[in-house]
Amino acid sequence: MTPGIQGSLLFPDRFRRGDDTSTKNISGTAKLYWSPGKDARMTSILQCPVCRKPLFATASGYRCAAMHSFDAARQGYVNLVLAHKKHSKEPGDDPDMVLSRRRFLDLGYYNPISDGINEAIRTVLSGLASPNGRSVLDAGCGEGFYLQRLKEALAHGADPRLPIEYHGVDVSKFAVRQATQRDRTMAWFVASINDLPFLDSSLDIVLNVFSPAHITEFARILKESGSLVFVSPGPKHLNGLREIIYPITREHEAPTITGKAKELFSPATVARITYPLELADNRTIMDLLAMTPYYWNIDRETKGKVAALERLRLDVDVEVRVFKKKSGGGTL
Ligand SMILES: C[S@@+](CC[C@H](N)C(=O)[O-])C[C@H]1O[C@@H](n2cnc3c(N)ncnc32)[C@H](O)[C@@H]1O
Ligand SMILES: [Zn+2]
Repeated sequence: MTPGIQGSLLFPDRFRRGDDTSTKNISGTAKLYWSPGKDARMTSILQCPVCRKPLFATASGYRCAAMHSFDAARQGYVNLVLAHKKHSKEPGDDPDMVLSRRRFLDLGYYNPISDGINEAIRTVLSGLASPNGRSVLDAGCGEGFYLQRLKEALAHGADPRLPIEYHGVDVSKFAVRQATQRDRTMAWFVASINDLPFLDSSLDIVLNVFSPAHITEFARILKESGSLVFVSPGPKHLNGLREIIYPITREHEAPTITGKAKELFSPATVARITYPLELADNRTIMDLLAMTPYYWNIDRETKGKVAALERLRLDVDVEVRVFKKKSGGGTL
């Protein structure tokens, strides 16, 4: 038995292992790929989106003491968005965007970004003294690329007495479905960054990569010594593509989060990751375009220009900011 998991009363025995491959036959009918995941066994950090009480794992999903229950989907994630809080029928990235992102990321072009994020998180974790293991949330996790690579990176040389729990949240159920395929041992949720299903002061790290950010929510769920790792485009990100799209290319400005974070977080350390990229086929170029907001903002003629490209040289320029929560931060 994995040290640290022993003695957990929250999970029934058969779910404790976070078995990747087994199919569990619940009530003799539907086959359910449900397991809270051995990397996310401390379900007591989850919060009921209805009444804000802790959520606990059950045989079919999660439930709070007030009996609000949330069943796991067949693929193994849990939807914690309340129907009346949805702003659209299918919020977040659509299936085509999710698949474009997955194809592009799996080609390795953004591995240096992921490596930089992993390095930043490794540094933060090494400075922590959490006696009960550590917990990480990727807020706006998309199809799970960064969280999966983080787990792989941290597994090397990890102290087995200090297990890390990995959680991923995205408002797009299509993205979360893809994420469950990357790794079933992590806990994946459909939920909004604006109303995160985690208890106050429950996480060591919140990671936020190219996604909407909600600074007060992040501060609320982070522990006293917790950190926000915020990843955003640097001034020259995707120059090369942007020059084709826009007649005049302006540099990306510093993210607005820097100002908003002042009250709740100490000033961030910033690491910049820049490198040139050459894409040599049209499908990859179109996949990259579909990962960006430009895909929705450009007109048909401009999209046609990109669709005609067989080769593209561009800059990757990304900033990784680490904000440490201030003592007493998170209760605005
Ligand atoms: C540009 S993608 C980045 C995904 C992933 N972090 C990556 O870099 O591959 C932005 C993601 O934010 C998600 N998203 C948008 N609004 C959200 C919200 N309010 N709550 C949670 N996720 C949201 C989208 O569904 C999408 O997966
Ligand atoms: Zn409840």
